[in-house]
Amino acid sequence: MAISRRQALQIGGIGIIGAFGLAVPLGSVEAKSASRLDPRNMPRPYQRTLTVPPVLAPSKTTVDADGHTRHHYRIQQKLGSANIVPGLSTPILGYNGTFPGPTIKVNQGNRISLMMDNVLPLLHPQWGYRLDTSTHLHGSASLPQFDGYANDLTGLGYCKDYEYPNFQPARTLWYHDHAVHNTAQSVYSGLAGHYHLHDEVEQSLLPQGQFDVPLTVSDAMFAANGSLGYDDNTHSGLWGDVILVNGAPWPVMKVQRRIYRFRILNASISRSYRFSLSTGDPVTMVATDGGLMPSAQQVTSWRHSSAERYEVLIDFSKYPAGKRVELRNASNKNNVDYDNTGRVMAFDVTNEPVDTSGPAARVMPTLLTASTTMSLTPSQSVKTRRMRVKRDNEIWTIGGLTWDEVVKSGYRKVLADPDLDDVEIWEIENSSGGWFHPVHIHLVDFQILSRNGKAPFSYERGPKDVVYVGEGETVRLLMKFEHHRGRYMIHCHNLPHEDHDMMAQFSVGMDTDDVDPNHPIEASRPHPITPDAPVEEPAETPSPAPTETVETGGSTGTAELTEAATPAPTDPAATPPAAEPPTVTKDVLTITSARHRLRKDMTFSGTSKVTGPVPPGSASVTLYDVSPGRSSSKLGTVAINSLGNWSLTAKPGPGQQVTSVRAESSRGGTATRRVDTR
Ligand code: C2O
Ligand code: CU
Ligand code: CU
Repeated sequence: MAISRRQALQIGGIGIIGAFGLAVPLGSVEAKSASRLDPRNMPRPYQRTLTVPPVLAPSKTTVDADGHTRHHYRIQQKLGSANIVPGLSTPILGYNGTFPGPTIKVNQGNRISLMMDNVLPLLHPQWGYRLDTSTHLHGSASLPQFDGYANDLTGLGYCKDYEYPNFQPARTLWYHDHAVHNTAQSVYSGLAGHYHLHDEVEQSLLPQGQFDVPLTVSDAMFAANGSLGYDDNTHSGLWGDVILVNGAPWPVMKVQRRIYRFRILNASISRSYRFSLSTGDPVTMVATDGGLMPSAQQVTSWRHSSAERYEVLIDFSKYPAGKRVELRNASNKNNVDYDNTGRVMAFDVTNEPVDTSGPAARVMPTLLTASTTMSLTPSQSVKTRRMRVKRDNEIWTIGGLTWDEVVKSGYRKVLADPDLDDVEIWEIENSSGGWFHPVHIHLVDFQILSRNGKAPFSYERGPKDVVYVGEGETVRLLMKFEHHRGRYMIHCHNLPHEDHDMMAQFSVGMDTDDVDPNHPIEASRPHPITPDAPVEEPAETPSPAPTETVETGGSTGTAELTEAATPAPTDPAATPPAAEPPTVTKDVLTITSARHRLRKDMTFSGTSKVTGPVPPGSASVTLYDVSPGRSSSKLGTVAINSLGNWSLTAKPGPGQQVTSVRAESSRGGTATRRVDTR
């Protein structure tokens, strides 16, 4: 359905209020777009190169008492600035200040501890709500206290330690914010990233490394100053006119004439897509939310809602060099479409030498895996439960419940209470013709048994954790409640629906009046951020020098935003295969002294020692104030001299006392140090 902005505004009502009392009206009545950008700032399709977020390296790796490897990570949730709109910068919230956040990759059986710092501003700079966060690793069977329970909030200056078990089969997961009532705006502002769980089966069957490409698809609308606009049409949904892939509008990726694997995540907060290739050729679908399907499916188009992940293989060897293959979006009922929302990204086939290393470079796999979820049979089910998703008096409900009722019950109210290891059938009914609801069940992988009594679509014949419950549809799901006892959420993943208030919970293997050792809020509380702990880890992928400095000043409504460190994304086509590291530039950056007494100048100095090829051009170090409890701000940039030394003197801003400083060199090195304040 294509509707004009005028109609959208009538549905939607008011615009948004800027951070500093500035109203940011969205879209003039004449404009056929959701964005209010001047035409010369409006992004256009296929002008940008696809970038892939860096893979995060662990800060350390230890071995647990039972012999399992454990990787330790630390991520900062902080303000950042994105380059989306030509000529303007867009303030975002990001994991390490970027959207999408860095990718985490892990092998099955290795555990992860993730320290998640909240150093966001206290209030959202545009929409004014309190920026408390809760981080959910979507697709992981995590314990309840590490599952991003909506009311398990981490406030400014606090860190929550999350634990991820990674015992499940290989899959594409994603981590995103899940804070009660504000998930939509916080995820829309940028708090989302990929997490790839690998195992031997998947590694023997599917392309890896630079041929295994994460694609995070989202949509956005912009205010005239380049900042994000937000209009969820009275909690129905947000429909942006700009399609982003990995944070860039309608990007282009150069591809070799071979098979590629794309892990497509729809991170739009509301929009669903119907993807297809411009050639009309099918893609080979190999994995769904919960990992490998039993057998690969040839699919010419598929319906893809928020939070669903589909992994597809595309064989570019059948196209001549110079051919452009577009990924398009034919849309679905009840989305609002604009001029260019039918396009997503493009692949340009090159004649560069083809790297045929690794599995499935030339030949599509057919039989994949005997998934345990897909081997469940309805005869194992001990109970069938039915729930409806609907709007009741302006409030979205699920199974007759809202999250508010769960909260008011002291988190006791549940929609279902299966025993541990029970198999059940859940029937979810959407009798409305006006909305679709992507329903997500935490903890479990499920099998879709049927939709309106018929077999599910061929591309849904794999383990899932989100199901598209379309207009007038009833789905039957089969699942086993295993691994952990405790309380888990179930909700619509159209995030404005989730926030208002289409979310409930179920309990596994417990009575919610019992003392719960895995209480989703009480069992693991956040702690204050310690100033001298390492703040951020370098990316494993060698990144080109971040030479671009994005200024955020000058545009109204964003004046208080400070520049944040933006690790440069890498072009997948340009990423060298992992096997040849000696040509990589390494920079060991140190801060040897850091001193700032309140109301006095601050002085910092250090060294930068480069091994490997020295990048051309002059090298510099940029320093940031990363004192806990404040949003990070840039202190200045200084050149590195020919002996590898640097030093910087800077004046503090009003009331600024720096207690922790972070340095980033243009050659890739980073360092953090506590500041001497005496
Ligand atoms: Cu992706 Cu409960 O969320
Ligand atoms: Cu989830
Ligand atoms: Cu919904």
